[in-house]
Amino acid sequence: MEGEFYNSMKLRVAVLYGGRSSEHEVSVRSAKAVMDGLDPARYEKIEYFIDKEGKWNPRPILPEPGAQPGIDVVFPVLHGTFGEDGAIQGLLELAGLPYVGAGVLASSVSMDKEMTKRVCKERMLPIVDYVTVTRDNQDVADACCCLPFPMFVKPANLGSSVGISKARNAEELKTAVAFAARYDRKIIVERAIAGRELECAVLGNETPVASLPCEILPSREFYDYEDKYLLDRAETKVPADLPAGTTEEVRRLAVECYRAVECEGMGRVDFLLEAATGQLYINEINTIPGFTSISMYPKMWEHCGMTFAALIDRLIELALERHRRQKATRFTR
Ligand SMILES: Nc1ncnc2c1ncn2[C@@H]1O[C@H](COP(=O)(O)OP(=O)(O)O)[C@@H](O)[C@H]1O
Ligand SMILES: [Mg+2]
Repeated sequence: MEGEFYNSMKLRVAVLYGGRSSEHEVSVRSAKAVMDGLDPARYEKIEYFIDKEGKWNPRPILPEPGAQPGIDVVFPVLHGTFGEDGAIQGLLELAGLPYVGAGVLASSVSMDKEMTKRVCKERMLPIVDYVTVTRDNQDVADACCCLPFPMFVKPANLGSSVGISKARNAEELKTAVAFAARYDRKIIVERAIAGRELECAVLGNETPVASLPCEILPSREFYDYEDKYLLDRAETKVPADLPAGTTEEVRRLAVECYRAVECEGMGRVDFLLEAATGQLYINEINTIPGFTSISMYPKMWEHCGMTFAALIDRLIELALERHRRQKATRFTR
């Protein structure tokens, strides 16, 4: 009887999207795809749109347990700052709501390119040689003297290639650091890898699994903002055309990286494959990857036989599972 009653109830899913980050528009597109993918026979969707100023429509989620009796699970489809960096996840922890994707720690570690590298390094996972400088660093050329040109310069906490540029000499390095410094206090300078770009989707909580990797073929010098969202000219290959051993290595490293940052739910691990040496490098992990109908994360799973709708079901299942597990934890004596 109780079971039947439960089965006849739809799960109420709050979809959070928009947000204050530079990836606002992408989030809107991702959220649309997610909402379209929620089977209306099983789910009732509740939209929470956050505008560019951070205002919630129709109303904000309150940081108080039990304050949202109409929500069973939250699906944050927010990319970048305030959405993918642990901020929203912290709010949802306070509210006591189950939510899709990584928790506070994994979200903020993964958002910060330097922290991700430090965590990977500790597990001896391959990362590109880098140096961290701060906005007020006086002698950037000196700080980066151990790295060969060309170098990539990036704000430590941002996505969508915003603030990123390639420097071929000391002059360009100075300009690139000043440019990145507009977006963050902390800046990563790293050796540029000439080769291929690969991505691998990971899914799961305690026992994460990796999809087959895909390849990104940027239409420009690198996969910059225009190429990602405006030009629609970058090519993608699912699965990536790689020797079997490389495919397996990408998948293994993707899961290792996911575990290293203690990711849960989902994550897309991005790689650079150096042409001259065949060496794979972990570039970054995204805890809320793009979710539009043409995004690589769902595409990689589709290629592995999991439909978009099934992927969403699984992510919600994982969110509920994690919440149940967490309930066994005491927060007081
Ligand atoms: N060390 C590197 N060598 C070669 N290309 C790089 C390197 N770092 C970044 N890129 C290029 O810049 C793009 C954006 O950098 P990435 O670190 O992925 O930042 P974001 O978080 O903005 O996606 C990558 O997709 C790649 O094309
Ligand atoms: Mg990237």
